[in-house]
Amino acid sequence: MPLRRRLLALIALVLALCLIAGGALSYWNGLRKVDLEMSSGIDVASSAISDALSTIASGGDARGQVLRLLSSFDGDRHIKVSLVSPDGKSVNASHLLPPVDPPPHWLYWLLSGTPRERTFDLPADLKQIGTITIAADSHNEVSEVWEDLKLKFVIVGSFCAIVFGLIYASLGRALRPLEQLSSALDRVGEGDYTAHVSEDGPDDLKRIYRAFNRMAEQLQDSEQRNQRLNEQLSTVQEEERSEIARDLHDEIGPFLFAADVDAQAIPSLVSRQASDEVVDRSKAIRQSVKHMQVHLRGVLSRLRPAHLIDQGLAIAVEQLVAFWKARRPQIDFQMDIEDERFATAIEEVAFRILQEGTSNAVRHGQPGTIGLTARRTGEILRIVVSDDGSGITAKTTRGFGLAGMRERVASLDGRFSISDQENGKGVMLIVEIPLPSASASGNNKHKPITTSAA
Ligand SMILES: Nc1ncnc2c1ncn2[C@@H]1O[C@H](COP(=O)(O)OP(=O)(O)OP(=O)(O)O)[C@@H](O)[C@H]1O
Ligand SMILES: [Mg+2]
Repeated sequence: MPLRRRLLALIALVLALCLIAGGALSYWNGLRKVDLEMSSGIDVASSAISDALSTIASGGDARGQVLRLLSSFDGDRHIKVSLVSPDGKSVNASHLLPPVDPPPHWLYWLLSGTPRERTFDLPADLKQIGTITIAADSHNEVSEVWEDLKLKFVIVGSFCAIVFGLIYASLGRALRPLEQLSSALDRVGEGDYTAHVSEDGPDDLKRIYRAFNRMAEQLQDSEQRNQRLNEQLSTVQEEERSEIARDLHDEIGPFLFAADVDAQAIPSLVSRQASDEVVDRSKAIRQSVKHMQVHLRGVLSRLRPAHLIDQGLAIAVEQLVAFWKARRPQIDFQMDIEDERFATAIEEVAFRILQEGTSNAVRHGQPGTIGLTARRTGEILRIVVSDDGSGITAKTTRGFGLAGMRERVASLDGRFSISDQENGKGVMLIVEIPLPSASASGNNKHKPITTSAA
């Protein structure tokens, strides 16, 4: 059931209970009032009749006096006085005043109470006339209670209706923002993170709206970041593929061609018995093959670093440095890499950080020196890539490399930071990865490799 309907049903129930309680109280009051009125009516009438009877003298007009006594009660609201003959028949009676607005039968039945009657004997010498009976009739009193009840119910009923109407209207207003929030949540659930709710209303709701808007903004932000990362990833993959194709074409193609030329020459050299030249050609073929092997390994290590890391982080970094030394011989590479083996996931992340850090330093900084460090300090593996290049400029773009590093480090609950060096020359990238005690393998050697590859 919707919240609004549930609250209204609850309020209606409370109001109905109040009405029932009010009705019960009114009934109890009415019952008391009727009872009191009837018994006091009987008492007053009894004393009036006793007084009158004491003055009635036997003789000529005794019956006439009795009838006058009866008619003196004509028009009474509650008391009816009757003359009952000795054989038990009512021979004469006073006339009750009829109620202006007769009460409904059920109410009369509920409120009339037990019938009250009292009988008075006439003086001994008038006994042949009969007896006088007084009876209380509650119709007029119940009619009064009925009038009173109707008025009360009109007042209380209108009060309840007004209260209910006001609550209905104000609940609608108060709950409208929640409906807005619920439809915004539905939109977020369907992946539309532009959903926004206006931040007005009571303070506690405002806090919820603010939190919702912040959440939607963050979701939108991370979705955009993901989209950008995906786009960059496919661009990087494209670039990587064309770079590998270029490498294969430029580095392997000429040597394959050279090896083919040398191999083709060998049969005619053999037929001319030029054995020295055959030896030279076979040496040339071997050199070409060796060259191709080196390049092929370079390409493979870029495609599958895990294979490279099989031999340990230190060796993988040495090969990384060799790769860059071959292309940037002027850069001085300073290495300080832990020889200890760590969990594969940690070694892979560490290698990727060092690889991307070095590639960024070479590509963006034009440094003279690049420092690569991976050292254990207690339960932390601290990785540092520093250079003395141009540093991070204001024009720095948001590439895939730094974002990828951040994500890799976060996946291992590590910390990542990159900033310009304190001396203003170059960049310092620091990553700290917590080492789970189980991650240290059995063959830890704890021998740091400190190399300067100039
Ligand atoms: N060592 C560095 N020296 C100077 N600038 C740097 C260095 N490292 C990063 N930057 C700056 O930070 C930017 C972001 O680096 P990031 O690795 O994320 O992207 P990229 O290298 O430009 O592209 P990608 O890595 O996606 O191919 C770089 O474009 C560069 O401007
Ligand atoms: Mg980069």
